[in-house]
Amino acid sequence: MTRHFLRDDDLSPAELDQVLDLAAALKADPYGPKPLAGPRTVAIIFDKPTLRTQASFAAGVAELGGNPMIVDGNLAQIGTRESIADVARVLGRQAGVIVWRTHDQSRIEEMAAYAGVPVVNALTDQFHPCQTVADLLTIREHRGATAGLTMTFLGDAACNMGHSYLLAGAAAGMHVRVSCPVGFEPDAGILARAQEIAATTGGSAAVVTDPKQACEGADVLVTDTWVSMGKETEAAARAEVFAPWQLNADLLALGADGAIVMHCLPAYRGKEITAEVLDGPRSVIWDQAENRRHAQKAVITWLLEQTEGPGRR
Ligand code: NVA
Repeated sequence: MTRHFLRDDDLSPAELDQVLDLAAALKADPYGPKPLAGPRTVAIIFDKPTLRTQASFAAGVAELGGNPMIVDGNLAQIGTRESIADVARVLGRQAGVIVWRTHDQSRIEEMAAYAGVPVVNALTDQFHPCQTVADLLTIREHRGATAGLTMTFLGDAACNMGHSYLLAGAAAGMHVRVSCPVGFEPDAGILARAQEIAATTGGSAAVVTDPKQACEGADVLVTDTWVSMGKETEAAARAEVFAPWQLNADLLALGADGAIVMHCLPAYRGKEITAEVLDGPRSVIWDQAENRRHAQKAVITWLLEQTEGPGRR
């Protein structure tokens, strides 16, 4: 069966653990394993802006012995110039894995349905699962483990990061609190799914509207831009509504001793996070950014092994 990584809960909690172990092993030996030797091609397509994702996938695929083929979504015009299904069939004949950053989740689901090779979500409007694997790896490194820790997400909980932290944090046995203004709550179905997963891992998932209450005793404080790609016209209105959720020294002081600060980047200092906190001693954001590469190498390697059988490392 072809395995895909389209949303965080495409990996069971046990599988997520395996991927995180593999990511740590690949980080320890970055130039050793070559499961893409050939080189096999990985198609990496962007319908939205990128920096970290393009750089980390390109570098990671090269380290695995493969050929990263960057496809400009503006040139390909997937779904307009030709159907998603036809693009999937064509790319599936050229590449061993397809990585796609696009808009609605339904687009990547359609790609996966027709590609015949593993498809990886490199961010959609609803989820950013590669980021959360990198973030869990980072939490493991700084705190030793994930289970039992409290992670608070501040900001637009209706966006991809809010959703992905709910699902991935729950799978990792964490207590996930998302804190947001009224009207920016996570999708109810995704929150319910996170609670269902948390019930099996000893974690929990909840919306805690008051940002102070949400940060109290938290081990991990995380935020994201208030203005996700595609929401630029709402920037001014959002800046006003989201102000009480800014990750600043006052909120950080409410966290647990040794709490760490995370941000998937790009960050806007003075908006969702202060420069003092982002550039301060609790921040682990550069480790997070580096870990994108190690995490994604593990995701690609693991998906190919599940799909094609062991022995590829
Ligand atoms: N929520 C942000 C994440 C950027 C990595 C966005 O979608 O723009």
